[in-house]
Amino acid sequence: MVSERAAQVLVASNRGPVTYAFREDGTLDARRGGGGLVSGLSAIGTDADALWVCAALGDGDREAVRRGVAEPGVRMLDIDATVHADAYNGIANSVLWFVHHMLYQTPLEPVFDAQFRRQWDAYRTYNRAFADALAAESAPGAVVMIQDYHLALAPGMLRELRPDLRIGHFSHTPWAPPEYFRMLPDDVAEELVRGMLGADRLGFLTWRWASAFMQCAGNVAEDGRIVSSAPDDPRPRIRHSPTGESAFRTTLVGVHGLGAEAGFLRRRSHELDVEERMVALRDQVGGEGDRKTIVRVDRTELSKNIVRGLLAFRTLLDERPEWRERVVHVAFAYPSRQDLPVYRDYTAEVARLSEEINAQYGTPGWTPVVLHVKDDFARSLAAYRIADVALVNPIRDGMNLVAKEIPVVSDAGCALVLSREAGAYEELGDEAIVVNPYDVTGTAAALHQALTMPDGERAERTKRLAAAATALPPQQWFLEQLHALEALGEGGEEADDLGRT
Ligand code: F6P
Repeated sequence: MVSERAAQVLVASNRGPVTYAFREDGTLDARRGGGGLVSGLSAIGTDADALWVCAALGDGDREAVRRGVAEPGVRMLDIDATVHADAYNGIANSVLWFVHHMLYQTPLEPVFDAQFRRQWDAYRTYNRAFADALAAESAPGAVVMIQDYHLALAPGMLRELRPDLRIGHFSHTPWAPPEYFRMLPDDVAEELVRGMLGADRLGFLTWRWASAFMQCAGNVAEDGRIVSSAPDDPRPRIRHSPTGESAFRTTLVGVHGLGAEAGFLRRRSHELDVEERMVALRDQVGGEGDRKTIVRVDRTELSKNIVRGLLAFRTLLDERPEWRERVVHVAFAYPSRQDLPVYRDYTAEVARLSEEINAQYGTPGWTPVVLHVKDDFARSLAAYRIADVALVNPIRDGMNLVAKEIPVVSDAGCALVLSREAGAYEELGDEAIVVNPYDVTGTAAALHQALTMPDGERAERTKRLAAAATALPPQQWFLEQLHALEALGEGGEEADDLGRT
């Protein structure tokens, strides 16, 4: 049944824009989060009939749903905790994330066994809960924008319930190349692709990820019932029909390279708390202003490659003794997905290696690695402002917004050492010092090159990096997708003329 207050624009994602925590007196404290999607959605204003559907994640969120506490424009789904854990930790984070970021140590993993099948069922149930809620909350012909690998089946499920809707799906991650994607059991690979193809339009952060999806789609159905156009077609699309049906539908493919929000970042990075943290950080770096800084800011996420970054820094100190006492690696590694043992082990390895480097090289007046693990946005901005070099070396990354934010905020210019496997490489590669993220020796050489870049060149490159980084700010990123979906007739019949963006 469609709700009486049906929305015209809906966003769906696992993590929503608000979380609830218990206060000491048992009441609930709502905290609003940030990020590209929150900022993007603000483009349509608070008066619009918009609704964000998300999952209740912690006990506070679940209690909020039970007490009927809700922020305007947000609907949290209280999905059974075991189903959510199996879908989120079991499938989304331990399988799909690993596939798209190519993280498996393949001699031993993945193993698709009975446990995987049970979790896959949970993933279906979780996607179904979203599809049901979206179907109930959407006005006739509404636009629904579904986010990420958590919700790859929801577009197909929603289309069955509400063929009148205009459904988009956006991937914030890379997409796996076909050889890697085919590690998934065949039926699961096809179900994922067909789930996504329930959308009228699929969005990706770069053409590299979009074409990987198109190749996977063309590959999973052996009977030729899913056909991708060439990715360089002026209007990339995929034609598909379910087995046993003769009618084909078309799903369009578009690319929207989410950029940094210059105004907000520049304003926020000059607030008092940031200035205070700059003083504290400079104090930790020491050297009376003569020391250089190599800054990295990441969630402690397996694909971010923090450990090889530390190894590269150690190689720099090994091979170029002239840098000892003259440079500090400021590494912010904020814990993420700590329910998963492999993430906890990785976090511990980052701390262990930092300590080892400090023990090996540190002197009474110099701590080579300054590691912070407590998430502090103001301190991240402070580090952005003082960075001489930014190290962004992921194994694979959908975009990497840190690479885009640092040049925008940097005070005196910052040389960017950037992995060619980050989505941001497509837009920033020309002005960055580009590295193969597995090549520790090469990364150490790139750090040296960055540290010795002349000030004038660094400042000029930073300007050009900032211009490229802000080409598509979050609000425009969101509106581009919204307008492309609105341009479709009900049920997605008309072609989108956005093509390449
Ligand atoms: O960075 C890619 C991304 O998929 C984001 O879109 C999303 O917010 C995040 O990863 C998911 O992280 P988490 O598991 O912490 O919610």
